[in-house]
Amino acid sequence: MTAPTLDSLRRPGAGETVSDATDSERTARWARQIRELAEKRDAVILAHNYQVPEIQDVAHHVGDSLALSRIASAASHSVIVFCGVHFMAETAKILSPDKTVLIPDAQAGCSLADSLTADELRAWKAQNPGAVVVSYVNTTAEVKALTDICCTSSNAVDVVASIPADTPVLFGPDQFLGAHVRRILGRDNISVWGGECHVHAGINGAQLAAKARENPDADLYIHPECGCATSALYLAGAGAVPADRVKILSTGDMVTAAKRGSSRTVLVATEIGMLHQLRRAAPGVDFRAVNERASCKYMKMITPQKLLSSLEQMRDEVVVDPEVARRARGAVERMIAIGTSGGGGE
Ligand code: 13P
Ligand code: SF4
Repeated sequence: MTAPTLDSLRRPGAGETVSDATDSERTARWARQIRELAEKRDAVILAHNYQVPEIQDVAHHVGDSLALSRIASAASHSVIVFCGVHFMAETAKILSPDKTVLIPDAQAGCSLADSLTADELRAWKAQNPGAVVVSYVNTTAEVKALTDICCTSSNAVDVVASIPADTPVLFGPDQFLGAHVRRILGRDNISVWGGECHVHAGINGAQLAAKARENPDADLYIHPECGCATSALYLAGAGAVPADRVKILSTGDMVTAAKRGSSRTVLVATEIGMLHQLRRAAPGVDFRAVNERASCKYMKMITPQKLLSSLEQMRDEVVVDPEVARRARGAVERMIAIGTSGGGGE
């Protein structure tokens, strides 16, 4: 069988004019091509919750960073196509060095991962001998190789709680997630790096307070990378929002909460791609973005066309230096072993 080409995605089918083929027909044809090619390549397609809806719908698994790492490590396929950002695909390669890991666009980076370099971490460690290094999974392979335990937003608290209470911890790179962990554990020996994700830092307390006032009965789902996470807890503490309505959740845990929740309206503070999985999980609930412009340009670099050419041409292949991967693997495996399952991943 010859592989479908990008042209065939753009061209109408036999006997069809361009105007005959509706968007949904073209999407359905593209989705069939993707699934056929994936089977031919022995590939499993993983998509993060921030991907565009078409990619979430065609993927074999959709989930948060932890759930996707776990699926990548257990996958029996010889090829993993990671629809997410580069550090996620790199994590899959670290866990499965013998598999071919593809990302449809290797330029899909992450501003948070860029906020802590290996040299900076090396210097920070040298100033704090004896401290345990916990790095968020949003880091490069080189940073992971200098890390004791990685974490994601869904298990950061459990990871730090697993470290003896009298041992100092260096937590990076996300300052808002670090503040969340400190707050929950009430530990004052956690030093937090000052990095941030530009998308989540841009969802601020003023926007959240205004939306909460307009929607007094709504639940609030807040990703801990958000600049407004502290404001949400302040609103709860000040009685402006009932404390049980404020939920600080990873993207996958938002899906789990949506399936169990009873509120008719939910305000969502994270990247807007998340709304697609939430609406699928609970179609009767009105999910509203706290900031409709919170879109990650890196996540959106993975387009339907690029996914098709990735499978056709087996690119972009993710390569991690074997020695760096070997040193990073322990930190990533410890992350996978700790905490709840990581939401999503169905
Ligand atoms: P999750 O771990 O909640 O999926 O969030 C990761 C993230 O922010 C990717 O940008
Ligand atoms: Fe990185 Fe932020 Fe984009 Fe997530 S949303 S991939 S943390 S830049």
